[in-house]
Amino acid sequence: MDIVVCVSGGGTNLQAIIDKVADGTISDTRIVGVISNNADAYALTRAKLAGIDAVCVSPKNYDDREAFNEALLNTVDKYDPDLVVLAGFLVNIPATMVAKYRNKIINIHPSLIPSFCGKGCYGLKVHEKALERGVKVTGATVHFVDEGTDTGPIILQKAVEVMEGDTPEVLQRRVMEQAEWIILPKAIDMIAKGYKIS
Ligand code: GRF
Repeated sequence: MDIVVCVSGGGTNLQAIIDKVADGTISDTRIVGVISNNADAYALTRAKLAGIDAVCVSPKNYDDREAFNEALLNTVDKYDPDLVVLAGFLVNIPATMVAKYRNKIINIHPSLIPSFCGKGCYGLKVHEKALERGVKVTGATVHFVDEGTDTGPIILQKAVEVMEGDTPEVLQRRVMEQAEWIILPKAIDMIAKGYKIS
């Protein structure tokens, strides 16, 4: 199964995928490309170090959102992937791309959806909201991407304990280590083995 991974930041979720393809935890899968909207994303360096084709498609290089969306979709199409993985990708996927890759785009969100998700709720903000609310358990979710924000069919979730005195940064790291870096590769492996939404 050929996958493209879309990234915006540090790329720790990408690194988990690279490592688990290499050690066989993710079966029958090849990362054919990494796409970032952010030229400075360390995720691009991780891809290059792993010998994976890595490109930047930045909104800054296009006159408007329409032109960016078209460039993003054209770039994905060039790799002809079986699956598109959003791993810390902070871009709203255009409806044209959702339609063309229906149930072939998955996303990792750092909470137990439907908690702490939706427009504007991403990255550290998710953990700030969880701590503000005082939840005792949070976690991460892998879901198929539809036209909404964090609203597509859920594939996997994993719970993580909130500890006394947690800061958003400490909680984010625990959720990444104990949930994101486990369930995103697992979801890819499931799909490689034929998993489809029921
Ligand atoms: C993490 O908070 C992750 O939950 C979210 O993006 C952040 C950075 O992820 N999806 P990464 O290190 O770039 O994979």
